[in-house]
Amino acid sequence: MKMLLLGKNGQVGWELQRSLLPLGELIALDRHSSQFCGDLTNLAGLADTVRAIQPDVIVNAAAHTAVDKAESEPELANILNAQAPEVLAREAARSGAWLVHYSTDYVFGGGGDRPWREDDPTFPLNVYGQTKLLGEHMIDWVCPRHLIFRTSWVYAARGGNFAKTMLRLAQERDQLKVINDQFGAPTGAELIADMTAHAIRQVFQPGADAQALAGIYHLVASGCTTWFDYAQHVIAQAQRLQPGLKIKATEVNPVPTSAFPTPAQRPLNSRLNTARLQAKFGLTLPAWQTGVDRMLAEILPNP
Ligand SMILES: NC(=O)c1ccc[n+]([C@@H]2O[C@H](COP(=O)([O-])OP(=O)(O)OC[C@H]3O[C@@H](n4cnc5c(N)ncnc54)[C@H](OP(=O)(O)O)[C@@H]3O)[C@@H](O)[C@H]2O)c1
Repeated sequence: MKMLLLGKNGQVGWELQRSLLPLGELIALDRHSSQFCGDLTNLAGLADTVRAIQPDVIVNAAAHTAVDKAESEPELANILNAQAPEVLAREAARSGAWLVHYSTDYVFGGGGDRPWREDDPTFPLNVYGQTKLLGEHMIDWVCPRHLIFRTSWVYAARGGNFAKTMLRLAQERDQLKVINDQFGAPTGAELIADMTAHAIRQVFQPGADAQALAGIYHLVASGCTTWFDYAQHVIAQAQRLQPGLKIKATEVNPVPTSAFPTPAQRPLNSRLNTARLQAKFGLTLPAWQTGVDRMLAEILPNP
């Protein structure tokens, strides 16, 4: 199997470079790649890349993910999150390839407290969510052979993440304020990449009814938390892993979203129902704490 990966150095892209390798030949690009164009703003170049490589699967991990910045650069967000996926979808459909793509909990409006199902009505509150939703629609219209995974609150050991920020702030400040009215599931890039590889393998399994597996799926770790509870978990687990860790913050206080005004509005209810993914692919999504604890064990120096 020949696979083309776009966005190889993002959180998910980096882990896909690992998880996809056992499936076959992997050509992994980022926006600076020279032999083939991997820049999602170069739509013609992107089409040429697919035509030249002729992959069996295109995995698109690149996106405009700066949620607040997208409010002030909606054209760029639209190119990256909607137009480029459409080009990939057209090229995949033309050549019979599969397209694997990622989307977000931010396609939902965030009301209520029930975990969103794949076919629930969407109502994005910000430019990022609007452009990601448009990307979903374009793929769905143009390319029947697709897997779209909506995920949320992604973290990875590599690069910056919420857990690292909380740990740093807890060591620097006496008091922390953390949002306690947004609900969701922190989901590791490792988990997303591993589930992606399992799903692709099943689609290409000889005798599989591959088309019956196509569609949109919610892919998040099990359980649910708030940023506040997540922060508390991170600090407590870090102290367990490193008993000598100096935490200065004696108070971690819950605050509402309104305490931290941001250019982009965020949904309060980001819970995603993953029953469809688990049933269709026979896979299990571990509790969110499992991946977070593992990431902490990786990033904290050994005592
Ligand atoms: N992060 C989250 O919390 C979250 C939540 C829900 C859904 N998702 C979705 O999950 C997927 C993966 O997200 P992630 O967390 O891995 O994001 P990420 O770490 O921000 O990675 C995004 C990648 O896109 C690349 N990119 C930006 N502009 C590009 C361009 N013009 N051409 C090519 N590549 C470009 C970035 O490259 P540079 O490093 O060079 O900028 C980066 O490597 C995305 O579809 C995202 O929408 C993420």
